Amino acid sequence: MTEKFRETADFLKKRISVVPKIGIILGSGLGGLGTKLENATAIPYSEIPNFPVSTVEGHSGKLIFGQLGGKNVVAMQGRFHYYEGYPMAQVTFPVRVMNLLGVKTLIVSNAAGGLNPDFKQGDLMLITDHINFFPESPLRGRNLNDFGVRFPDMSKVYDPEMLKLAEGIADELGISVRKGIYIGSSGPALETPAEYRLFRIFGADATGMSTVPEVIVAHHQGMKVFGMSVITNVTTPAYGEETTHEEVQDVAGTVEPNMTAIIKTLISRLPE
Ligand code: HPA
Repeated sequence: MTEKFRETADFLKKRISVVPKIGIILGSGLGGLGTKLENATAIPYSEIPNFPVSTVEGHSGKLIFGQLGGKNVVAMQGRFHYYEGYPMAQVTFPVRVMNLLGVKTLIVSNAAGGLNPDFKQGDLMLITDHINFFPESPLRGRNLNDFGVRFPDMSKVYDPEMLKLAEGIADELGISVRKGIYIGSSGPALETPAEYRLFRIFGADATGMSTVPEVIVAHHQGMKVFGMSVITNVTTPAYGEETTHEEVQDVAGTVEPNMTAIIKTLISRLPE
């Protein structure tokens, strides 16, 4: 596998002239930030050796290099989900490649169902912690010693400084944000009311089908991590309404400019 990471990283290095220090993964309906990059070079996943090809609607499948907030970044427009059938190594493949390209900070976004009864549709949540409810860890198997240790500590995965910075920025921009715990599970079926209740009892504030594998791999290799969820639907039993993928994408699209504004400002304020 390590050979494949290197092959892909070498291919990308030949296509780009700058070293991205920040990686961004854009979730369902949240790809708009990708169009904000300056001096952008977009490479479709289909042209990148060893990259899986994203199949879900709303994930256009491009790696975009460019500048945002005055920093060199690489953004994934479209991610790989476990429910699509990819093994965890494929789901997290781009995060390993980002590491080899020089990325030190990973920013992730996702669409999520709100479990916290105070949350409303369209809320933005800064992720403070996560629960891995996927059936396996992306680190399962022989440890990649070149990247990180066998048993990574997980006590401080979401960088407290970036969280504080983002809260301040949201305040400045007049955008209200929530904070909370994201639980990731495999999907693709959404949760039953009983499962939503269980996730709430676990202590989670929002649930989705992504993010956790990529974040575990990012943390394993020592990257700083910042994550944001768009609450596309509320899941409290009293609500009792059905959720469709179209609704998830619509709500994500409506809130996306606020999320993008926070991320762009956050990036501009990160140290070089
Ligand atoms: N459950 C799981 N994933 C989701 C949801 C949800 O309710 N909303 C958006 N992604």
